[in-house]
Amino acid sequence: MSILIKNIKSLAGIDDSGRNKVIGKDMGIFACINNAFLILEDDKIASFGRMEDLENGIPITIGRSNATVIDAADKFVLPSFCDSHTHLVYASSREQEFVDRINGLTYQQVAERGGGILNSAKKINEASEEELVLSAWKRLDEIMMLGTGALEIKSGYGLNTEGELKMLRVIKRLKDNHPLTIKSTFLGAHAIPAEYKSNKEGYISLIIDEMMPRIAEEKLADYCDVFCENGYFTKEETKKILEAGIRHGLIPKVHAEQLSHSGGIQTGVECNAISVDHLEYCSDTDISVLKNSETMPTILPGAQFFLQLPCPPVRKMIDAGLPVAIASDYNPGSSPSGNMMQMISLSCIQYKMTPEEAFNAATLNSAFAMDLSRTHGSIAIGKKANVFITKEIPSLAYLPYSFGSSLIETVIVNGEVKTSIEALP
Ligand code: NIG
Ligand code: FE
Repeated sequence: MSILIKNIKSLAGIDDSGRNKVIGKDMGIFACINNAFLILEDDKIASFGRMEDLENGIPITIGRSNATVIDAADKFVLPSFCDSHTHLVYASSREQEFVDRINGLTYQQVAERGGGILNSAKKINEASEEELVLSAWKRLDEIMMLGTGALEIKSGYGLNTEGELKMLRVIKRLKDNHPLTIKSTFLGAHAIPAEYKSNKEGYISLIIDEMMPRIAEEKLADYCDVFCENGYFTKEETKKILEAGIRHGLIPKVHAEQLSHSGGIQTGVECNAISVDHLEYCSDTDISVLKNSETMPTILPGAQFFLQLPCPPVRKMIDAGLPVAIASDYNPGSSPSGNMMQMISLSCIQYKMTPEEAFNAATLNSAFAMDLSRTHGSIAIGKKANVFITKEIPSLAYLPYSFGSSLIETVIVNGEVKTSIEALP
């Protein structure tokens, strides 16, 4: 099956250099070809270039005879978004906490009253695997139609062995059946369950000695994550859990410096984490630590905006020569949206990222944070045919500028045009 997209006003996000991320001032360039074509063969990008070259017959080798032809005049084509941090498997929404916070409670106060993560954990443990697959499937369809092509999903609302395994089995079923590319993260260390309130050591032992071996045996996760935060897991505990994860083949990630400066970045870098995420309280020292590492600093503008936290120092990071990734943190408590275009708008508006920087952050750099940049995150020959076509727009900057508008017209995943929801497996 092949698709020819022709007369594209601008084909953006081209990067066939083979680099796995974009750093520092290079983030300001999101390479484009104006008046372009793009050819997709099966599930891969086969060719692209200027329309005049197509007309001159240069990509003649491509079997275009029975291709679907899409005319994208006045429209942009971009690589699909990569969303490297979500908690998209959950049993129930939490809008009451949203209202409680409007009425003056903080996120921490809501959590102390048994709301927050523990509220989601209670609901997960009451839900069946089938129910969780069904509700998560709908969210996957929703974000697919919003331009996401690959994502990571975390456990962390089970907080006991069966609950965590149930979540990870749900994620595995989504991974095996949904057209989106999915990576899975074990986040048993998301909060301390009520029954271990005065025995955190006991819960950490449960994570390391009981949960991890079973997760490794069933090959249920790619990554291990810890919420390194005051009232959750200290940096020493974070290190202990991540190191145990490494012994079970799980690559580290960290929820770091979200509500206070807790040492999560330093710990993540010491453990060679693939990413450290949130970063509202990232310090100048943390920026230097990140500079000497391969760890991807990942910002979650949805949660920062929704909880009205301080802005992470994104300009300082980029100006210091760091890469930055953007993810949605889609979850019922702190970011009930998986809309990556919205995350890009928030990043431009709040952190003064240029549109080009934000698109690089939400594509190739977020692919890096899931070890997917060889196959996803840019327009390059041989990469996955995951792209979207916009409505008629005047410029790239128009996309984040028109915040809240729905400007994605056609979504292509694995070389197939998606017009409606996916059939359940
Ligand atoms: O990434 N920070 C910790 N975890 C989630 C929130 C989860 C929740 O409130 O349910 C986050 O923001
Ligand atoms: Fe999170």
